[in-house]
Amino acid sequence: METERRRLLVANWKMHFVRAQALEYLKVFTERVQGLHKTELVLAPPFTLLEAVGREIIKTMIRLAAQDLFYEREGAFTGEISPLMLKDLGCSYVIVGHSERRRIFGETDELIHKKIKAALEAEIAPILCVGETLEERRAGGTQTVLESQMRGALEGLMLFAPSPLAPLPSEGEGSRGEGDRLVIAYEPVWAIGTGVNAKPIEAEASALFIRELLAQLFNAEIAKEIRILYGGSVKPENLEDFLKQPNIDGALVGGASLDPEAFAQMAQIAERCDG
Ligand code: PGA
Repeated sequence: METERRRLLVANWKMHFVRAQALEYLKVFTERVQGLHKTELVLAPPFTLLEAVGREIIKTMIRLAAQDLFYEREGAFTGEISPLMLKDLGCSYVIVGHSERRRIFGETDELIHKKIKAALEAEIAPILCVGETLEERRAGGTQTVLESQMRGALEGLMLFAPSPLAPLPSEGEGSRGEGDRLVIAYEPVWAIGTGVNAKPIEAEASALFIRELLAQLFNAEIAKEIRILYGGSVKPENLEDFLKQPNIDGALVGGASLDPEAFAQMAQIAERCDG
């Protein structure tokens, strides 16, 4: 890697597990990843498990992510979860604009923009998901889609404006670079949960395109610091080929992350691969 972006692996559990299953998972996972330190490991359980998982990992290097949030701080929004609530549970990250939310729940770029802004203001790093569908890809529209999703979500944001809610992180953990405050996940929709992953070289082309967009949206310095993940049927067998790509800094893993042995194996692969 030419820059010092720290590797990042995020387990997106989606709508899986009740408490006993999560605790069982953590028993295996925390033991297997003990001593690993180069790669940042993040678990994104459903809302209902954030507290239980957070409590178990508090003394480890593993960090906590939510899978979504609402953009208001509080109020009459039945069923929604605010950035303050996530902060209160110790979330460092939140996934925003996952393709399942765009497709099944009709999330628009406008809504996603508000969520990204709210997360940044609460000092929870948003993991913004972008990616094209199979039809869009076949029509040669991958870059057009990526550009409109990126601009829709990020244009006009002052990425590093001081937060009105909390002071900026001080030196030390959590302040390695300003890019830590935003992560992009390139997830081609056709590769999610299908077992058909993108070719690493194609994912790299999209990651590079995303980095160039970040330079336009913010500046070259910030673009260099922001971590870009690949997501879509990542598993122990293919992870290394993605990590070797210069613009891919880690992975957002769904299905394969439900097996603690497999996700721990990925953490070990990330730890020793110097891509
Ligand atoms: P998958 O999901 O690894 O099961 O393809 C990835 C994701 O949706 O983030």
